[in-house]
Amino acid sequence: MTTIGIALLGVGTIGSAVWRTIVEERESLAQRTGFRLEVRWGLARHRERVVGVGLPAQAATTTIEPILEDPSVDVVVEVMGGEEPAATYIKDALEAGKHVVTANKEAVSKHLAELVATARRARRALLFEASVGAGIPLMVSLRQLLTVNRIERIRGIVNGTTNFILTAMAEEGIPYQEALREAQRLGYAEPDPTADVEGHDAAYKLSILASLAASRHIRPEAVVRRGITTITPDQILDARARGGAIKLIAHAEGSDGDWRLRVEPVFVPGSDLLAHVRRNLNAIELTGDRVGTIVLYGPGAGPTPTASAIVADVIDAVRFGDALLPSVAAAP
Ligand code: HSE
Repeated sequence: MTTIGIALLGVGTIGSAVWRTIVEERESLAQRTGFRLEVRWGLARHRERVVGVGLPAQAATTTIEPILEDPSVDVVVEVMGGEEPAATYIKDALEAGKHVVTANKEAVSKHLAELVATARRARRALLFEASVGAGIPLMVSLRQLLTVNRIERIRGIVNGTTNFILTAMAEEGIPYQEALREAQRLGYAEPDPTADVEGHDAAYKLSILASLAASRHIRPEAVVRRGITTITPDQILDARARGGAIKLIAHAEGSDGDWRLRVEPVFVPGSDLLAHVRRNLNAIELTGDRVGTIVLYGPGAGPTPTASAIVADVIDAVRFGDALLPSVAAAP
């Protein structure tokens, strides 16, 4: 039995779900994989937060240095969110010889090429399955498809919050502001919903998927983006009358160096699977030149599915190291 020492950067909703998954599944993970997972550190702005999650007091730190210097830490799990200091911590951890697993779509989408290059130099794993579609195995699927296929198109619903709002507007006949308040009351939307409703979150996710498909870093700023805040009940009703729905669709299409990415609310006819994706679920179509079009569907958010992907990535990081690094050239 091999022990994997883990440091958690961030102990919020996702970090505490990772901790719970590791504690609850420790024995079954050990039996299934031969690895015993031990959380050695939890990093947060306040030590009390770490202890509050259930980690022992000596595992709490407010700075990254003890983690970088601890030889018993094999994998750093970054679940702080936001671009900085997360992106710097990921680089520091790789350079200190740690594998890194992250769920951070913003840091990954803005720094993908640089982070992959750092991981390659350090000969360490960098895995980010949970950054798009939570527990939906998108990176695993893309990796498998890309071995044989050219991916020509990625199209889907990658933001649960906006899909919940659009579904509530359509099915309950309520205006945008009321649907947003309902999403906030149920914990689907943040108190400041800008990142979701203006399409930034979907743009980060699309940029990551398209960069992997194109083997070239396509920055989130390259995504033509429009959010859902100006969608009116009349537009929603009109879409329903035509047998379809308005959905926030992330769409990337291209080949070689020429890719076009956009995130925008569009009419989706009823004959299209994506019109039937309800509430906070996600669905992503991947089109390859040999496999054709496949669709991955499921909960694209939430602590438990996200932690499922993160813990699986921790084990793959140790199993496969830098062998799973994607090929991503720097953005021009
Ligand atoms: N705010 C995101 C969503 C969370 O609604 O999809 C998961 O990335």
